[in-house]
Amino acid sequence: MTEVAEPQRSGKLRILSGVQPSGKLHLGNFFGAIQQHIEMQDRGEAFYFIADYHALTTIRDTAKKVGDEAKRPVEPRDLLRDYTRDVALDYLALGLDPEKATFFRQSDVPEVCELTWFLSTVTGMGLLERAVSYKDKTDKGIEASVGLFSYPVLMAADILIYRSHLVPVGQDQVQHLEMTRDIAEKFNRAFGEVFPVPDYHLGREAKVPGIDGQKMSKSYGNTIEIFAEGKTLQKTVMSIVTDSTAMGQPLNPDTCNVFALYSMFATDDEKAQLAEKYRSASIGYGDAKKALLAKIEAFFAPARAKRKQLARDPGYVEEVLQNGARRAREVARVTMRLVREAVGFRGASVG
Ligand code: TRP
Repeated sequence: MTEVAEPQRSGKLRILSGVQPSGKLHLGNFFGAIQQHIEMQDRGEAFYFIADYHALTTIRDTAKKVGDEAKRPVEPRDLLRDYTRDVALDYLALGLDPEKATFFRQSDVPEVCELTWFLSTVTGMGLLERAVSYKDKTDKGIEASVGLFSYPVLMAADILIYRSHLVPVGQDQVQHLEMTRDIAEKFNRAFGEVFPVPDYHLGREAKVPGIDGQKMSKSYGNTIEIFAEGKTLQKTVMSIVTDSTAMGQPLNPDTCNVFALYSMFATDDEKAQLAEKYRSASIGYGDAKKALLAKIEAFFAPARAKRKQLARDPGYVEEVLQNGARRAREVARVTMRLVREAVGFRGASVG
């Protein structure tokens, strides 16, 4: 029998999540995932990373789109670099504390690619063929590469290499987490109990409505960006789709996108008050949108100020990510030694 799993460091709950550097973060990302990432850094030993290996599966497609819109060529590598820096700044501004959480770039821990190979040998084709995200992406015209197909195996490796217990994610990642659990169990059955089988934890809001009422998502172009401000933010909020109830008529809060978005920022009392105004016809959509705008601005004001301050010192962000990578890599190397021994290879790789 191979060596059993190293006891978790100081028996703490290990929490892990990743975020793709794929453009501006929006309210859907915030209420679906980011908010709980920040909250959970106090609940255990958190590892959060920027999933740049994953972003490679779609970055050329994104660069083409961005380039077409800007009417000039955009290099995938420039986009990847900018997006990665943006996500790092966003998270730090929103409250990720590098003293509490280990925050790093996925590609600074290349061991995760090695684990991906081990895991891919116990992953059934059928399991990957059922992945909804692969189908969604190829349906949208993204090239069907082998990397895109095995995206969930890399994601399983992300989670398992840090021997994570809990993965806070948005609803759209649940299938990937089920796959990770399958893959971990299968590896453990074949080679010995190396990996804890991780649980997932969903964010507060599974479905944040976008400005058109569909689920908020970058691919629908219906987002409200967290760090938009001034005229841009105002224009976006004012363009939220509402029904055509005439002025002076009662409005239905239960079917209104503006009300749904307002609810995410408001206390129960504030919600009840606005609902009352809707029903008594004492507010119109224009004023409801202004109330929402004020809420968004107040809620993110501290993060906006902090982001501007952080952006002035790129060296700081880089230092945070590199320190994070060092810590993450230590853990990853221990796991890889266990994995290599478990399958019958020499433990540590040479060097
Ligand atoms: N696939 C995730 C997303 O698009 C990002 C991700 C990559 C991730 N690896 C992960 C999330 C590991 C949680 C755990 O949002």
